[in-house]
Parts: sequence; structure tokens; C-alpha cells
Amino acid sequence: MSQSNDSAEKYDLSTLGVRAGIRRTEFGEHSEALFLTSSFVFESAEQAAGRFTGGDDGFVYSRFTNPTVSMFQDRLAALEGGEFCVATSSGMSAILATAMAFLKAGDHVICSKAVFGSTVQLFSNVMGRFGVDTTYVAPDDPAAWAAAVRPGKTKLFYLETPSNPLTELADIEAISKVSRAAGATFAVDNCFCSPALQRPLEFGADLVIHSATKYLDGQGRVLGGAVVGSKALLMDTVFPFLRTTGPSLSPFNAWVILKGMETLQIRMQAQSTTAFALAQWLEKHPKVERVYYPFLDSHPQQALARKQQSAGGAIVSFDVKGGRTGAWQVIDHTRMISITGNLGDTKTTITHPATTTHGRITPEARAAAGINEGLIRVAVGLESLADLQRDLARGLDQQPG
Ligand SMILES: Cc1ncc(COP(=O)(O)O)c(C=O)c1O
Repeated sequence: MSQSNDSAEKYDLSTLGVRAGIRRTEFGEHSEALFLTSSFVFESAEQAAGRFTGGDDGFVYSRFTNPTVSMFQDRLAALEGGEFCVATSSGMSAILATAMAFLKAGDHVICSKAVFGSTVQLFSNVMGRFGVDTTYVAPDDPAAWAAAVRPGKTKLFYLETPSNPLTELADIEAISKVSRAAGATFAVDNCFCSPALQRPLEFGADLVIHSATKYLDGQGRVLGGAVVGSKALLMDTVFPFLRTTGPSLSPFNAWVILKGMETLQIRMQAQSTTAFALAQWLEKHPKVERVYYPFLDSHPQQALARKQQSAGGAIVSFDVKGGRTGAWQVIDHTRMISITGNLGDTKTTITHPATTTHGRITPEARAAAGINEGLIRVAVGLESLADLQRDLARGLDQQPG
């Protein structure tokens, strides 16, 4: 069950999460081995020469590949239904490696307006300095993507679905058609759903990007990232960029994430079930103005969510009636939920996007993006629904009006 191995097709996701990619050593260890080594020893000068020039595909140096990292790559490729995976040191380095591998000065990117803030900084400020221009369009409007295409110049389409924090969806299949017609490469950041709930390659994406820091690890321990796609697309692009420039995944982090992926399916299902129930409960609360969750009947793209995703995911956002004061009151009255910016953990986290993750953009841009002062984002973990309700009700019930 390793990368490029047809037998991976026969197994269900829960099985692949536990077993795909395993390479046993001569000792027959049952759990995946952690190879903490920077380099690998050769039997002869001839073998060393073969490995460096590519004739012999054994291990050379851990900036290039490492057996533990390879196990992580093979497991994630199998889960995403992709042929090949390249691991990176973080989600941001996966996005950077993709941008550097597929773009050059004069090229154009079309990116969803609703992506992680650092992704916008990366395309606009970092890639912008090297002559790459980016147009931001609404994720839910494929016609806007088509209208933004600059023939011969548009080389990359980039989006996240569902978006953070408002859970807006992009129609992956519709946008993949626009991308294909434009001759661009289409990358989808699948960090929020993970392959347990959504497999973008099946809907026509060329590349899947991951912050493994989130649900793949799932326990808030280490940073990691990955790019998944066909071998033909990655082998001569992202892989040589990483091998040369060095934002590679450490074997230790790969090992931690591998163990996290064993429980990915079961965690995503449990966290989604609790999140859906919490969203329905919040919708009925008199002090809550609006709830954003893809599987709610009130979500304008519920049908698309049910087509692309097997569950709604673990992120629930909601507007409280009391604006910023009300939102801070709810956050400050929690005793169990962690006030922290990360998500994808077994421990539920809570944030006020307008003053944290989206605090550096102008109030006008925030309002245009729908990030209200009363908006709260909860990334649901594995605590019980009743305990989460109690922790949120304490602040909600004290709201005036
Ligand atoms: C959707 C999304 N993509 C990418 C990243 C970046 O990942 P990392 O923090 O692992 O660099 C994040 C981080 O929050 C994210 O939420």
C-alpha cells in the first residue's frame, strides 16, 4: 500500500489512514519507524554516484527524502486518491513551493477572496515582488473566475473550500473546468475538510495543498504541510524546488503526523457530528443572529456541500447580537474551550476573527468580507456536545436584550 501502488485503490479511507505507506525494516516493527538521520550510508562510491545522479532511487539525504517522510507522503497520497505527494515543513511552505514551482515573472494567479490571510500575503506581497500578479475573486462564482482569466498569462487557480471563518464553498468541479480551459494548474487547499471528508482531485483539482498542522496531526503538536497530485505534475516542479531550497518536513514531525492520520477518519466524523449539532443548537439560541455551517438547511450552498463533502466539518461560526462586546463576553465566559487561533485540534478552540486573524485588514475590507464585529469562530474538538453548549451558554445567556 505505498505510493503509485494500485492496491491502495481497494481499501476504504479508514483502512488507508492506518495502513497506507508502511515500509517495514528488517526488524519487522509493527508501528512505523522514526528515522532520525540526516543522511544515508552507501555501500560503495558507485552506489553513491548512482543515488546522486538518480539512477538508483535509494535514500540520500533527509532534505530530499527520508523513509519516515516517505511513509507520510504515501499515506496522504493514498487518502487523497492522488498518485504522488511531496511533504513540506508547514502549510505555508507547501503553498510557497507550489507558487515557486508553477509561476514566473509576468504570470497571473486567480485566487479565491476567502483564503487564509498569510496566503494572500504570500501571493500579493511575496510573489508580487517577483512580478507575479494576483486577482482575487468570489469563491462561489465560477463566472467571475472565467472573467478574470488573462489568456496565456493565468497559470494558477487557487482556493480553499469551505472558507475560514464563514464556510463559503467553491464548486470545485465547475472551477476546474474554467482552469482547464485557461490552461492553468488548479490547486485546492483541503486543510479544513481533510481527505476524510472531501477529495478535491475527484472533482477535477490538479493539486491538493495541506497544512498538516491542522486535522492531519489533529492534536495541535507539530507543523507540517504537503502537496498532492500526479507524479508528472510534481516530480519536476515542487519536488526539485524543495530539494534545492530546503523547507522539507522533519522526520520527527512526519512520524507524529503519521500517527495522527491513523485516527483522522474517526476524529473528523466525530468532530463533524458534534459541530453540526452545536450549529443547530446555536441557530435556536435567542442571542445568536446567524450561524455559518455547510450542512445547515440555512446555508445557501448546502446542496454543494453535500455533493463535495461527506460531512460538514468541524468549524462553526456565528454572529452574536451584541457585536464586539457580546462576542468578547461569550469568549471570556468560557472556562473549558481554548482561546487560541489554531484549529484542527481535539481540543475545541474559539476566536474573534475581527480582532485576531482578520484584525490587520481595514474595517471596510472586513465588512466587505462579511467578518462582522459579532462573529465568533469555534473549531470543534472531541469534547462532549453538552459540555460545549454549557461553556458557550454561560456568555450567551448574559447578553443584553
Ligand atoms: C486553510 C489554511 N491553509 C494553510 C495554512 C497554513 O498552514 P501552516 O500554519 O501549517 O503553515 C493555514 C493555517 O492556519 C490554514 O488555515
